Amino acid sequence: MFTLIDLPYPIDALEPVISARTLEFHHGKHLKGYVDNLNKLIVGTEFESMSLEEIICHSSGPIFNNAGQILNHNLYFTQFRPARVIAGEGPSSVISSEGEAGVEKAALGAQIIKQWGSLDAFKTEFVQKGATLFGSGWVWLQADASGALTIGQYTGADNPVAHGLRPILNFDVWEHAYYLDYQNRRPSHLEALWGIVDWGVVEQRFAAVR
Ligand SMILES: [Fe+2]
Repeated sequence: MFTLIDLPYPIDALEPVISARTLEFHHGKHLKGYVDNLNKLIVGTEFESMSLEEIICHSSGPIFNNAGQILNHNLYFTQFRPARVIAGEGPSSVISSEGEAGVEKAALGAQIIKQWGSLDAFKTEFVQKGATLFGSGWVWLQADASGALTIGQYTGADNPVAHGLRPILNFDVWEHAYYLDYQNRRPSHLEALWGIVDWGVVEQRFAAVR
């Protein structure tokens, strides 16, 4: 049996980037739905004793879709930390100075700069790939076994694990992730997410690859 993960921060901690209302639906309804669905679907099957990653690598159809969405959302919700807002200024002043400085010093930051030239160039391509993904899906930073990075666009519940790659960072571009707060402004939402990325968590995922 799979269980719904707890959010590692209060429900309103990611405002104004992700509102409490969006999190209530996204975590409490959408992710919970995937968990409940998968638990029903795998009863009495070979998947009952498998990990999420094993299910993703050996299934298709509804079982793949629900297992994929659980893994994708578990990674998504655990890679954020409260937004930093400059006192006296509005939402546009959300910054992530500590995380930015941290990632540039760390192994992941060095690899990003080696491949993209700068953190900003990487972020620009990541957001562009998320903004241009047609329909519902996810944009990913993913690594192969050597630590080489690529940005992946996957539709639906698909993810790097299903393609033999390691998931490092993901942004959800399903409308349920942003429509209450940003309506159709997907690129604005993706840009704002940089303000709440917990680079320490992302760096640990990359460190585990090598
Ligand atoms: Fe989602």
